[in-house]
Amino acid sequence: MKIGVIGAGRIGGNAARLFAAAGHDVFLSFSRAPVRLREKAAALGPRARSGDVRDAVEFGDVLMLSVPWTSIPGVLEHAGPLQDKIVIDTTNHFGPGGIQTLPGGLTAAQFNARRMPGARLVKAFNTLTAGFQASEAGRPARQRVVLFHCGDDPDAKTVVAGLITDAGFAPADLGGLADAAPMEAPRRAGAVYGEEYRPAEAVQVVEALREGRPLPPPPDYPRDVDAR
Ligand SMILES: NC(=O)c1ccc[n+]([C@@H]2O[C@H](COP(=O)([O-])OP(=O)(O)OC[C@H]3O[C@@H](n4cnc5c(N)ncnc54)[C@H](OP(=O)(O)O)[C@@H]3O)[C@@H](O)[C@H]2O)c1
Repeated sequence: MKIGVIGAGRIGGNAARLFAAAGHDVFLSFSRAPVRLREKAAALGPRARSGDVRDAVEFGDVLMLSVPWTSIPGVLEHAGPLQDKIVIDTTNHFGPGGIQTLPGGLTAAQFNARRMPGARLVKAFNTLTAGFQASEAGRPARQRVVLFHCGDDPDAKTVVAGLITDAGFAPADLGGLADAAPMEAPRRAGAVYGEEYRPAEAVQVVEALREGRPLPPPPDYPRDVDAR
C-alpha cells in the first residue's frame, strides 16, 4: 500500500518506519527543514521517499496526519482536497494552554473530520506514546499492544486495522467518530487513552463500551507516561 505521511516526527516517523518494514511504500512530508525529511526517508530504505505535502496526498492510498494540533489548519490548507482519502488521524488536541475545548460536544476526531471534508477519517495511533509504540511493536500475539481505532467508514477502518496489524500491533474497533472520547485526552478513569491493553482485555473494553457499561479497570502492566 502507498502511505503518505504528513508529519514524520515521533509518531508519524515511527509509523512510517514500521510500515516500510512491513513492505509498504511511504512518502514523508511536512517539515520546517526538508533536508531532515530526506535524511529520514533515506534511513528507511528504498520504500521511502519525501517531498511536499501535496505530493504526499497525491501519492497516498492512505494518509497519516501526525502533526501538532496547532499545525493542523495550516497543513490542511497546504494539503488541498482530501476527498475519498483514508486519513489516519493520530493527533491529540493539545494546544499551548493544554487540552483544547472543542465546540458543540464534538470529539476531537469529529472536529477533525469536519475540517477534512470528504476524507475517510480513522482515528488511531494516538493513545500511546511514540516511545512506547517504537519499543513495543511486534510482540507475540497474546502480548501484542492494542491500538484502538474508530471511524465512520467501515471499509476505511478495515484498511487501517490491517495497517495496525502490519505495524506490529493488535487493532481494536471502538466504533464511530462520535465514540472517540475514550480514546482521547486526557488520561482518566473510564478512558483507554494512555493505557496499555492487550487483545483479550480489549475485547472486554469494546463490549463494555458497546453495551454502555463502565470500562473494566485498565490492566496493571507497567505504565508508560501520558501520550501526547
Ligand atoms: N509524541 C507522542 O507520544 C504522541 C502520542 C500520541 C499522539 N501524538 C499526537 O501525534 C501528533 C504528532 O505528535 P509527534 O509527537 O509525532 O510530534 P513531533 O514529533 O513534533 O512531529 C511533528 C512533525 O510535524 C512537522 N512539522 C512541520 N511544521 C511544523 C511546525 N510548524 N511545528 C511543529 N512541527 C512541524 C515536524 O517536522 P520538523 O520537526 O522536521 O519541522 C515533525 O515531523 C500530535 O498531534 C500529538 O498530539 C503524539
